[in-house]
Amino acid sequence: MSLVRFGVSLEKDLLKRFDMHCRQNAYSNRSEAIRDMIREIIVEEEWTGSNAAVTGVISLVYDHHKRELVDKLLNIQHDHQRIIVASQHIHLDHDNCLEVIVVKGSSKDVQGLAAELRATKGVKHGELVRTTTGKDM
Ligand code: NI
Repeated sequence: MSLVRFGVSLEKDLLKRFDMHCRQNAYSNRSEAIRDMIREIIVEEEWTGSNAAVTGVISLVYDHHKRELVDKLLNIQHDHQRIIVASQHIHLDHDNCLEVIVVKGSSKDVQGLAAELRATKGVKHGELVRTTTGKDM
């Protein structure tokens, strides 16, 4: 991919604050930090358009002793198998399980699935990590 240079004008204080951000986040130069910021904006826009294809990871922590909860979570996942790429179940300790579900589909469908799983009674913590298919980056 060919690189293009462009100039940016901004206030001294803002640049100082930006350089602080670069140092705190271990960027070796400003360009790398700006590239990441632009990519973040693109990912954000992909997730905002409800028909855009996105990829994400849903994580759930729950107590597997609650049998109804386990059945419910499995049923929801089978109903959405079209957008589930893979899942992994980790036994955290005697009671708690961590489930990691990799999803790919329209942002509307993926967010709907994440909301449904997270809202299931008994789920201790649910999170959706939003990322991109990388196609337009
Ligand atoms: Ni388990």
